Amino acid sequence: MKPDDKICYCYDVPYRKLWHFARRHQLSRPSQLSECLGAGTGCGWCIPFLRRIFEVASQENPPDAAPPITAEEYAHARQAYLASAEQRNKF
Ligand code: FES
Repeated sequence: MKPDDKICYCYDVPYRKLWHFARRHQLSRPSQLSECLGAGTGCGWCIPFLRRIFEVASQENPPDAAPPITAEEYAHARQAYLASAEQRNKF
């Protein structure tokens, strides 16, 4: 993924914004990333990715924490996640 690709689709929050927020605010827990434009407070799809950003950004010399997939693959995986959630809610 590239820095301006979205991590949270529900609130249009790009990776770059989350990364800088995590680095600048020295967060103590992953859920504090929701203070960055509401990331993670919608469908829940991006929460595992927010956790990874938090974990990596907390390191002294962090490597890149962007998901190692393309933006298109990420968007497609989210659609599958939403479809499966919809199926679970039917029963
Ligand atoms: S994609 Fe982040 S809460 Fe839905």
